[in-house]
Amino acid sequence: MHNLTILEQDTAVNYEELTYPYYRRLLQELTPEKSVVAIGVELESEPIGLILATYWNSSDDSTIYAKILSLFVVPSYRCQGLGKALLGRMETELQSRGCSEVSLSYLESPNSPTLEKILNQSNWTAPNATALICYATRVKLKQASQPHLIEYLEKLEKKLPPSYTIFFWRDLTAQEREAIESQKQIDTLVRRFNPFTEESKIEPLNSLGLRYQDRIIGWMITHRTAPDTIRYTQLFVEPDFQPLSRSILMLVKSILIHVEKAPEATKATWRTEINNLPMVNFIYRRLAPYLDEIRKSFLTTKSLKA
Ligand SMILES: CC(C)(COP(=O)(O)OP(=O)(O)OC[C@H]1O[C@@H](n2cnc3c(N)ncnc32)[C@H](O)[C@@H]1OP(=O)(O)O)[C@@H](O)C(=O)NCCC(=O)NCCS
Repeated sequence: MHNLTILEQDTAVNYEELTYPYYRRLLQELTPEKSVVAIGVELESEPIGLILATYWNSSDDSTIYAKILSLFVVPSYRCQGLGKALLGRMETELQSRGCSEVSLSYLESPNSPTLEKILNQSNWTAPNATALICYATRVKLKQASQPHLIEYLEKLEKKLPPSYTIFFWRDLTAQEREAIESQKQIDTLVRRFNPFTEESKIEPLNSLGLRYQDRIIGWMITHRTAPDTIRYTQLFVEPDFQPLSRSILMLVKSILIHVEKAPEATKATWRTEINNLPMVNFIYRRLAPYLDEIRKSFLTTKSLKA
């Protein structure tokens, strides 16, 4: 039987290839105060499996929640029980650190049935779809700039009363910014679609805002999540100023700028909550032809209380 070991900073570096690039830095900072657990398995000093989790104190009570960040077994060692053993060992370790509940999010992939089997055998909750994640290469997106679609966009734009203007988010004034910050204090929707998250990554090329008279009432904020990827993150129009077509107008404009101005290799990604029905419908009915892939994200949890 293989040995499962709780990794320390000096041993963890050998496991970097076994997790997503984004989490590799966690393996370089595995100090006791970091609330990160890494458990590895190796064969003749060769790392062949890794599970990584983090935990935190909830802000409303003293409950400690944990989240599995990644679980990976080298392909040639799969289907030997290692994945399940790593998960089980992690559950025990999190429990011993006082965690009450653990969660895991994953994207559907050809590998999902295997993962779902392990989760089911380990008594996790049935996975719930939480979001749609869409991917498009620029080549695919480019098909959105066909003449009949541009014509449709122009029609939508003409319907927009003159009191509305679409502007580049990079031109937002300090005063307008302050007004949105104040609005955030009282408006849960503005908080939920907060345009200022991950501000250092906001993409100036195609992030747009919608002004009504002298007030900002909507935005399409995009982020540069990797050198070759623009993520369409926050699409929002205040409910009193919808129909949906106003947000769609911003989205399509933003896509067209992407197609026209971004370098050839720049991809696009979207994330939409599964309960945002109008947007989910729009993605399947209208956006799908310009996407390479639509994948669902799932969430599952397990209580660790004795
Ligand atoms: C998910 C993963 C960690 C599983 O590792 P593993 O060591 O193969 O898992 P185990 O051997 O413990 O269990 C696999 C189970 O799935 C079953 N299985 C294998 N292929 C399957 C399939 N296509 N459909 C259904 N079940 C399948 C196996 O029979 C086994 O069940 P059993 O123990 O009842 O026989 C591994 O496939 C992996 O690294 N995948 C890529 C990364 C990933 O998707 N991680 C999860 C998201 S973070």
